Order: sequence, then C-alpha cells, then structure tokens
Amino acid sequence: MTSAARVARRQDVIVEGEFSFTADDFARIASILYDTAGIALPESKATLVYSRLAKRLRALGLESFHAYCGLVGSNEGLDERQAMLAALTTNVTRFYREPHHFEHLREHVIAPAAAAVRRGGRLRLWSAGCSTGQEPYSIALTILSVIPEAPQLDVRILATDIDPNVVRTAREGVYSEDLVEPIPASLRSQWLQRDDRDRKLWSIGPAARSLITFNELNLMGSWPMKGKFQTIFCRNVVIYFDEPTQEKVWGRFASCLLPGGRLYIGHSERVSYAGSPFINDGLTSYQLPQGGAR
Ligand SMILES: C[S@@+](CC[C@H](N)C(=O)[O-])C[C@H]1O[C@@H](n2cnc3c(N)ncnc32)[C@H](O)[C@@H]1O
Repeated sequence: MTSAARVARRQDVIVEGEFSFTADDFARIASILYDTAGIALPESKATLVYSRLAKRLRALGLESFHAYCGLVGSNEGLDERQAMLAALTTNVTRFYREPHHFEHLREHVIAPAAAAVRRGGRLRLWSAGCSTGQEPYSIALTILSVIPEAPQLDVRILATDIDPNVVRTAREGVYSEDLVEPIPASLRSQWLQRDDRDRKLWSIGPAARSLITFNELNLMGSWPMKGKFQTIFCRNVVIYFDEPTQEKVWGRFASCLLPGGRLYIGHSERVSYAGSPFINDGLTSYQLPQGGAR
C-alpha cells in the first residue's frame, strides 16, 4: 500500500452512524486499551466499540470519535479513559460458573487443607478479574461448605478487577433472585440473607464477606501482594489478551503460587506455552509441581 493509500485508509469511515468513526479512531482506541489493560481489539469489533462508546460521546456532548480520541488521549482524559475501559470490557459472570471448578476446588484444595487450616495454617486464594463478585463469593461458599468456622481461621480470598465499578458492586454483595439461583439451596439459606431494604434481593452474609478483600488491580500493572497463594482463579479474563500477554500473565501467576498451587482458567483458555511450569490436572485446572515453579 502506498503511503497516500494508507492515509486514505486511516480516514475511511468503518462504522456508519450518528458519529463519524474512522479506521484511525478505531486504531487509537484499540491502542489505548492494549496499553492500559492488555486487551487486544481486532477491527472486526468496530461495530461493538462504536455502540458501546456512542453513549459516552452523547453524555460528553462530543460530535465525533476524533474528538473523543483527543480527549481519552490527553492528560485530562484520565477519568474518561477509565470510563472507556469500563464500557469496553466484558463483565459477564455468574455464581458457580463452571460448577466442576468448585467441586474440584473443594475436593483437591479445601478438603485436603482443612486439617492444617484448623491447626492454624494459612489458606490464600485469589480471584483475578472477579467482575461483580460472583466468582469470589462462590469460592467463599465452597470454603464455608467444608470449613464453616473459616472466618475465625487464617483463610483469605483476594478478589481484584481493573474496573472500579464492578469492584464496588462486588463489595456491596447484593444480588437479585435470578442471579443467586445457581447457588445450592442449602448454602444460600445458610450463608445469604434477604436484603433488609428490598426482600426481592439477596445479600451475601457476614461470614462469606469476611473472607474476601476486594481491590482494584490491573493485571498489566504491578502486583503489591507479598504472600503466595494456594489457588488462583483467572477465568475468562486473558481471553481478551494476545498470546504474548497471556504467557506473561501465566508466568507471573506461577511465581505467586505456592509449590503444588493451582490455577483455574476459563473453558476456552489454555496454558500451553513453551516452558510453562504448569501441569494440566483436569479440565481447565493447572497445577504447579510440588517442587514449585522453576
Ligand atoms: C468476563 S469477566 C470474568 C469474570 C469471572 N472471572 C468469571 O469467569 O465469571 C472479565 C473481567 O476481567 C476484567 N479485566 C479485563 N482486563 C483486566 C486487566 N487488565 N486487569 C484486571 N482485570 C481485567 C474485566 O473488568 C472483567 O470484569
């Protein structure tokens, strides 16, 4: 392609609509998303990007994506970059998503650790990319189903996400009736309660809440945690990252897991890069050797 053709191509409108949206605008947005969150957006997602961000343009009174790109690329655009990220990330989640993971967790992590934890041992789990909280609360309920006295013991779940909005919702821990449906009835009646303000809503009870610390954390940034984990859940998060970024994240997870530690990933994800220390130990569950990561 000649350079004149390339310039013309960049100015091509790629989605027709209320606002002008060119290939160049798309490339600028995709590059900000990649640099800040590691998320790789192919141009085939242009219509999705347009529809999710058109609301932001309207709210800001902007006339074009060109103006929007100017804002999110500027020093003053920090808040809007955050709003753009929230608009473009997918937060779909549910309680006991992929129930076999929670059965596996109960059988291979929690039950074997129970005696040591009761003697004062430490149990640490991390839900990385926790979205609105259903994943870490499912982990907490799984723990409580084996160790009901866990809140009095040294058991902690760290739950993190890049998007402050979902972290806020997760921390609130209040869900509608249809969302709590996948929680086994016996666990729901024991560890959740009807919300005082609206009886149609369910609130996570104090025991499950007390096990979890929610924090904002970008997996692309630095990780302040010092201690290592027995288990990490990072499901349906890296699916949006390109391969080199995924491998980097897997490697960083390996270095913050204890020997024999486990990593649960989404059903369409794989940890299969050259030199990976993980051993596949079941459907989308990976384990470090007892000797730890090399
Ligand atoms: C589809 S949800 C998955 C939620 C949950 N893990 C599950 O499987 O049900 C993906 C989550 O990853 C978060 N996310 C995307 N990029 C991230 C990053 N760079 N650092 C931390 N979280 C990120 C999104 O905000 C979103 O809440």
